[in-house]
Amino acid sequence: KLGQYLRKKKCRWNSWNHFYCGINEQIIRETADALISTGLSKLGYQYVNIDDCWAEENRDASGSFVPKKSTFPSGIKALADYVHSKGLKLGIYSDAGHKTCSEKMPGSLGHEEHDAKTFAEWGIDYLKYDNCFNDGIKPIVRYPVMTKALAKAGRPIFFSLCEWGDMHPATWGFPVGNSWRTTNDITDNWQRADQNERWADYAKPGGWNDPDMLEVGNGGMTKDEYVTHFSIWAISKAPLLVGCDVRNMSKDTKEILTNEEVIAVNQDPLGVQAKKVRMEGDWEVWAGPLTGCRIALLLVNRGPDRHNITAQWDDIGLDLKAVMEVRDLWEHKTLEQKFVGNLTATLETHGSKMYVLKPAP
Ligand code: DGJ
Repeated sequence: KLGQYLRKKKCRWNSWNHFYCGINEQIIRETADALISTGLSKLGYQYVNIDDCWAEENRDASGSFVPKKSTFPSGIKALADYVHSKGLKLGIYSDAGHKTCSEKMPGSLGHEEHDAKTFAEWGIDYLKYDNCFNDGIKPIVRYPVMTKALAKAGRPIFFSLCEWGDMHPATWGFPVGNSWRTTNDITDNWQRADQNERWADYAKPGGWNDPDMLEVGNGGMTKDEYVTHFSIWAISKAPLLVGCDVRNMSKDTKEILTNEEVIAVNQDPLGVQAKKVRMEGDWEVWAGPLTGCRIALLLVNRGPDRHNITAQWDDIGLDLKAVMEVRDLWEHKTLEQKFVGNLTATLETHGSKMYVLKPAP
């Protein structure tokens, strides 16, 4: 069943990073509308994912989740029907524990089959499964119970494991789920340690490392920093989960999230996660293979000053004599010069350059 997600788009929207618990059905409907009117859906952002806080604190007499009456009065099925009528998909959230992390709604531990059936009946297409209030039971025991429940529920539902990386889910996440969080919660600032890259070898089509949702557009970083953030996620083949208010995007935010060339690197069918192949002081070189004998290359300047950064061919898996044609994915232009042996660029502070290299004709 997991194979059905091979080559499927991994771009989505999720409510948490911008709205936290302040969600309601109108926001979800308007977000679906905005994904279409902004053109994001055509680029692959096709899932509208509801995060924590969508249900009442208690289950009903039959043991089912009750959508929160004050914020989701029409219920989740009606919302799924609306989102589907727009050609999009609906994601939902639960927890492999007794309560979700907000403590505002029940979790699914001990209710897996019942909840999976409810989600399938509602028309849910994606489940994010959190890890709070878990009684200390190992995730490797708790998560597969939901995998089996979803498989029995009779509807394809993408299963996103949100275990935060502590128990190294990259090593057991496939075939339990379709993606697994490798990190703690992201924050909207530049000071982010990278805990995702070391699991690169475990990512593949159908099972992805997830360094958490994007912060692009939430206001805490400069444009250059958001470009770098988006580029690292894209080259890392990470799920691109938009985390801002897509109903009110600035020109810069839209420009970043809709860069088709960068998204194409993320969606490349080879599905190989790029690695940080060189790091010297404040600068980094990231590279990974793409289909068609091409290489995705990302240069990052983490330092406070402008800097020249060089990618050496032997660092990025190329023969030293290889003559390469270079496409700049943020400038949207193919450089006139052909490159042999290395490539150097000047990068602003916290800036990046992202390229696709292919053998020159
Ligand atoms: C922890 C997760 O890591 C977040 O992404 C979010 O889902 C919150 N829980 C919700 O409580």
